[in-house]
Amino acid sequence: MAGESVRWGILATGGIAAAFAADLVDLPGAEIVAVASRRRESAEAFAERFGVERAYGDWESLAADPDVDVVYVATPHAAHRAAAGLCLEAGRNVLCEKPFTLNLREAEELVALAREHDRFLMEAMWMYCNPLVRRLKSLVEDGAIGEVRTVHADFGLAGPFPAAHRLRDRALGGGALLDLGVYPVSFAQLLLGEPDGVAASAVLSPEGVDLQTGAVLSWESGALASLHCSIVGGTAVTASVTGSRGRIDIPSGFFHPDRFVLHRDGRDPEEFAADPADGPRTSLRHEAAEVTRALRAGEKESPLVPLEGTLAVMRTLDAVRERIGVRYPGEETAGDEVAVLAG
Ligand SMILES: NC(=O)c1ccc[n+]([C@@H]2O[C@H](COP(=O)([O-])OP(=O)(O)OC[C@H]3O[C@@H](n4cnc5c(N)ncnc54)[C@H](OP(=O)(O)O)[C@@H]3O)[C@@H](O)[C@H]2O)c1
Repeated sequence: MAGESVRWGILATGGIAAAFAADLVDLPGAEIVAVASRRRESAEAFAERFGVERAYGDWESLAADPDVDVVYVATPHAAHRAAAGLCLEAGRNVLCEKPFTLNLREAEELVALAREHDRFLMEAMWMYCNPLVRRLKSLVEDGAIGEVRTVHADFGLAGPFPAAHRLRDRALGGGALLDLGVYPVSFAQLLLGEPDGVAASAVLSPEGVDLQTGAVLSWESGALASLHCSIVGGTAVTASVTGSRGRIDIPSGFFHPDRFVLHRDGRDPEEFAADPADGPRTSLRHEAAEVTRALRAGEKESPLVPLEGTLAVMRTLDAVRERIGVRYPGEETAGDEVAVLAG
């Protein structure tokens, strides 16, 4: 499909689906050709709002639509496995919202399906596609702060989220860790890879989801990451990376930064700012552009968001949940144990 427009289908019509569609509408080389919802009326309203040709009242019709090159899955986490799996099995490429799935087992199933059907699959970890985050990563890789010793990152929202909200609904994969904690974990693993040890502590809700979680990840290199997430308190949402020869500070909104400051030992601080041409910091277009690029190049996964990295993050999230005692429906049965890492 080199040079051709990539034809998108949107699966689900909630908050992030609308934000993604709004950014996709302006992206060169992309068009939204279909949308699916569990209710036809929702699909039709979404289609009218974003000028989409076809509206389906079920997921199967979207998955079977041969004019759709790639489906963006934007359901709550608990439905990611089913929705993305359906699309892959029907021959569609898939961009699936974060957290990729509820647990590692589901994530491995999706990766296996993508490979079996020779389809493109990517987690919508938009932070990894952000130009300034990519710049930060290459600075760290080039040794700008020496050997990485410490990562700090937090993401907490004040809410309040009522008990009926998806963030507190155990059946939908609720809790701070999967929804928000996935960013600090993914940030630490972007720079340090998969940890060798995981420790964690949490406060759980009466429904059994985590209201706030603190995790410490450790690496044999001697690096530590101290991470926090919350759905009961609006934290600073900042990050810092400290190395043997300096530090990088990212101000609030670290997972979609508009600037960061590099402190190299013995030098004046240097500020790196986003290029205004890259659009608003909330734009989801960088991940959409990466999918477009990869599909046109015939790639089956993105080098910016590799599937092994997604699996490694899911393994860490499983390990944190094992430590804090959060289980989702279907995980209590034998054979569905979440993975345990040493440490
Ligand atoms: N990348 C980001 O910045 C970002 C931001 C927010 C959320 N997210 C992720 O995106 C996903 C959706 O979040 P959201 O904030 O958009 O949620 P939301 O506003 O509640 O929308 C989710 C949509 O999924 C469908 N849905 C609801 N309950 C469902 C169920 N039980 N089974 C299947 N489908 C269901 C509904 O669409 P229909 O009625 O059309 O079926 C609903 O509108 C989550 O996994 C979240 O982590 C990512």
